[in-house]
Amino acid sequence: MAELSIQGYGDDLTVNGIRIGDLTPREHENIEKEKGGRNYSPLENVVVSHVQDSSTLICRKPNSEDVKSFVEEELIDGLCCYSAVNQGQLNQTIVDAVVHHLTVDKLPTVPRSIRHKYMAAFLMATTAITEMDRVVPKVAGVEAPELMFKLSRRWGYRVKGIPENEAIVVAARGNFHGRTMTAVSLSDDPDAKSDFGPFVPGIELVPFNDIHALEQLFAEKGDRIASFLVEPIQGEAGVIIADDSYWPAVAELCKKYNILLAMDEVQTGFGRTGANFAHQLYGIKPDLMGCGKAAGGGILPVSFVAGRDDVIGVLTPGSEGSTFGGYPLACVVSIFATKVLVDQNLAKNARIRGAQLMQHFEDIKSEFPDKIKEVRGKGLLIAFEMFNKPQLDGHRVSLELLNHGVYAKETHHSTVRIAPALTIEAWQIDNIAEAVRDVISNL
Ligand SMILES: Cc1ncc(COP(=O)(O)O)c(C=O)c1O
Repeated sequence: MAELSIQGYGDDLTVNGIRIGDLTPREHENIEKEKGGRNYSPLENVVVSHVQDSSTLICRKPNSEDVKSFVEEELIDGLCCYSAVNQGQLNQTIVDAVVHHLTVDKLPTVPRSIRHKYMAAFLMATTAITEMDRVVPKVAGVEAPELMFKLSRRWGYRVKGIPENEAIVVAARGNFHGRTMTAVSLSDDPDAKSDFGPFVPGIELVPFNDIHALEQLFAEKGDRIASFLVEPIQGEAGVIIADDSYWPAVAELCKKYNILLAMDEVQTGFGRTGANFAHQLYGIKPDLMGCGKAAGGGILPVSFVAGRDDVIGVLTPGSEGSTFGGYPLACVVSIFATKVLVDQNLAKNARIRGAQLMQHFEDIKSEFPDKIKEVRGKGLLIAFEMFNKPQLDGHRVSLELLNHGVYAKETHHSTVRIAPALTIEAWQIDNIAEAVRDVISNL
C-alpha cells in the first residue's frame, strides 16, 4: 500500500517528510514538472506564498547567495487571478461571512435534492444584480458558456421550432470560453484544439466586431440559429473591444431573426469594465448571461447563468445540475461577493482607476511610439499591445515586470493585460505604470 503522511499547516505543511516552507522556487517547479499535467507554463523562478493585502502578493524568488533558500518580495497583483478577485484578496466582508457561516451558521454542504435556506437568498441577490428573471448556479467559469450552449439548443428546438438536431450556435473568432469540449469546439485557437477532435457540431464562427458578417450568416441560416454566444469584450484574445455601434446592432439583429444573445461575462462581469456587467456599457440586454470568476469573490469557484424566464424555463429536472453548483457555502460566498460589488461600488472604482491607468499608458505610448502600438481598455480591463519585433516580447515584459514588483501576464506574444483588483488604490496604479514605463524604456 502507498505510504502517505501529511502533517502541519502553511509552511510547516509536510508531505512524506518534505516541508513546503523549505522548497526553493526551482524545487517547486521541478515537482510540478514531474508530477503535474504540464498544461501551464507559469512565470519562471517565482512562487507566491501568501497575500499581504487586497492587491499585494508576497512571493518567493531564488536567493542569489544561497541556492538552498529563497527571498521574499512584495508584488502588486496586476492580474487578480484573471478577474476572479475583483473584490480584492481576502475581502473582509466575504471572509467574515465565510467564517461566520462555517463556525456559527454551520451549513457547508448539502446537495440540490434537498432544499437549503441560502438558495433563496442567492437567487434573490443574483437575479436582482443581473436584472434577469432566473439564475442557475454552476461551479467553474466554463460551465456558464457550456450551460448557455445547452439552453440555446433546447430553446431553439422547443420554443423557436428549429428542426431536431439542426440547431446552430454562432460564436466569434478569437473567442475564449474555457477548456471543456464545447468550449474548445467554439474556439479557433489551434493550441486549444489540436488533437482533441472530433468537436461538437452545430457551431459557426463569425469575425468579432463585424456586423455585416453576422447579418449575412443570420440571413442565410437564421431559421436554424439558436444563439449568438459571445464575450462583450474579448479578454483572453488581448482585450479586444468592439465599436460602440456594434452591440446595439447585434441586439437588433438577434431580435429580428429571433436568435438569443448569450453573453459570456465570466471575465467582464462584476464591475470589471466600469459597469456591473459590460453589456450595460452599450445599453443592451442579453437574453442569457454567463458569470463566473468574481461571482465567487476570489474565495470559491462560483459561476451561474442568468437569463430570461422563457429561456431558462426550458430546463426540467434531470436536464441540468451539479453537485456543488449552488451548495450552501457557494451561495453565501456569492451573495457576499455581490454585496461587496454594490456596497463598495466596485464598478465606479474600476472607472476611476481605469481612467488613471489608461492615461498613464497613453503617456507611455506617446513616449515610446516605436514600441507601443495600441492601448485598449474599459474600466480596469486594460492591455497594451507592442509592435511585432523580437525584443518587444510579452513574456519578457512579464518577467521584467516581476523584477519591478508587478505581476502581469502576456495574453499574446506582443500584448500584456493589466486587470488588478477593483479595490486597487491610486498609488498602486501609479506604481504599475511606473514599472511598465521602466520595462518598456529598457527594451
Ligand atoms: C470569457 C470567459 N469565459 C469562460 C472562462 C472560463 O472560466 P474558468 O477558467 O473558470 O472555467 C474564462 C476564463 O478566462 C473567460 O475569460
